[in-house]
Amino acid sequence: MANLNAVILAAGQGTRMKSAYPKVIHKILGQPMLKYVIDSAGKAGAASIIVVVGFKGEQVIQCLNEDLHYVWQREQLGTGHAVLTAEPVLSGLDGDLLVLYGDTPLLEPDTIKALVAAKRSRGAVAAVLTTEVEDPSGYGRIVRDSRGNIAAIIEDKDATPEQKAIKEVNTGVYCFEIKPLLKALKSLTPGNAQGEYYLTDVFKIFVGQGLPIAAFLTDEAEQVMGPNDRLQLAATENYLKHKINTALMKQGVTVADPDYTYIGPQVKIGRDTVILPGTFIFGNTVIGENCVIGPHSRVQDSIIEDNTEISFSQVNGAHIGPDNSVGPFANIRPGTVSERRVKIGDFVELKNSKIGSGSKVPHLSYIGDAQLGENVNIGAGTITCNYDGVNKHRTTINNGAFIGSNANLVAPVVIGEEATVAAGSTITKNVPDKSLAVCRSRQQIIDDWPSLRKRPRK
Ligand code: UD1
Ligand code: MG
Repeated sequence: MANLNAVILAAGQGTRMKSAYPKVIHKILGQPMLKYVIDSAGKAGAASIIVVVGFKGEQVIQCLNEDLHYVWQREQLGTGHAVLTAEPVLSGLDGDLLVLYGDTPLLEPDTIKALVAAKRSRGAVAAVLTTEVEDPSGYGRIVRDSRGNIAAIIEDKDATPEQKAIKEVNTGVYCFEIKPLLKALKSLTPGNAQGEYYLTDVFKIFVGQGLPIAAFLTDEAEQVMGPNDRLQLAATENYLKHKINTALMKQGVTVADPDYTYIGPQVKIGRDTVILPGTFIFGNTVIGENCVIGPHSRVQDSIIEDNTEISFSQVNGAHIGPDNSVGPFANIRPGTVSERRVKIGDFVELKNSKIGSGSKVPHLSYIGDAQLGENVNIGAGTITCNYDGVNKHRTTINNGAFIGSNANLVAPVVIGEEATVAAGSTITKNVPDKSLAVCRSRQQIIDDWPSLRKRPRK
């Protein structure tokens, strides 16, 4: 959309959350609430996005980890004051400005677009998104004049009993023309029940100036749910969870228990994949077709290719190839890449390692900072000793190598192609191709050793 920018207010504490962290960084399906709003503003066409931070703002900036304009509102003197703190950035911009609150994660880009279109088609200087709710308490009320035009927005705490009865409320989603907005913000006064500079008062100011303003009513009140406490946070997550699970099922994904499956908004899943209960799939995760994920698994920021099974396991920052089998009880950590037909079995931890096609790490292993070729077999209990207390070192295991059970591979070390490492060995030197490395004390046999169990007890 031409000449559209956005300011998102995220400076408040969110006292009712009873939290040490700012409300807007509390997560819904693995993603901070504020991130949803930023993404929606971007999808609605906002060219640049300014985020107003205040209460523990460094945490907000850190958790977003995005290159946006951040503006500090050191003292939270109200929503109008918050927008005005962005003036140094806003005064260089032209056209329309979206003002959004950072705690409305369900707001859809199409709704924002409809609000902008309503403002533009009516030639208004300001438009507000409104909705009708059964219980309007806590919200600003939309006061209309005798001809049905919006006259003012009155906060709950300032409303007369008649105004309190109004069910049309302010959702906190606005579109303004920048120049008149900045001018009106400067004439705000805090003469109200909360002693704050209310953004909502600019509507009264525009009316007084005879400038045209618009209200756009949406019947999707859920979209503007702004969780204020932990109960509303859970309700909001529950609503979005069902929406996402329903959409996936409609695309051909089986979600066995939609109540007990948590899938984030960015996740993509191919058809005929089955998601079993107790599974959490978050971040930028892409899952292929015909996979089985779960039960009781957690996948974060990973790629899982077709026909792969992951059960009772955790996968984070990894790329799991096709036809793999992972788990039960595997922990796949960042930087792990597996090729085709790889088996990662029970109680296996992998980190920053590449596992070639057909290789198996079936039981009780730690493989870190390693490169495994194709068709490597790792015996039960084998580990890479990658850390000397100061530095991490790499282990390379070439194609077709066979590592016996309970071996320690002390990195840096290279195991040659088709080499064999005897069970129980601690390998500290490179093993050549097609050789056998044995590094353990020889077994001794002492004949005629009477069984301890048959000796008389003292
Ligand atoms: C606001 C609206 C109200 C509307 C409701 C919708 C005003 C005056 N009132 O009330 O009409 O019905 O939202 O949910 O705008 N913030 C700052 N700096 C501040 C104060 C607030 O950045 O100084 C941020 C908060 O972090 C939050 C947003 O602005 O993201 C809204 O503030 P909040 O205190 O929740 O306003 P409400 O009382 O809910
Ligand atoms: Mg609020």
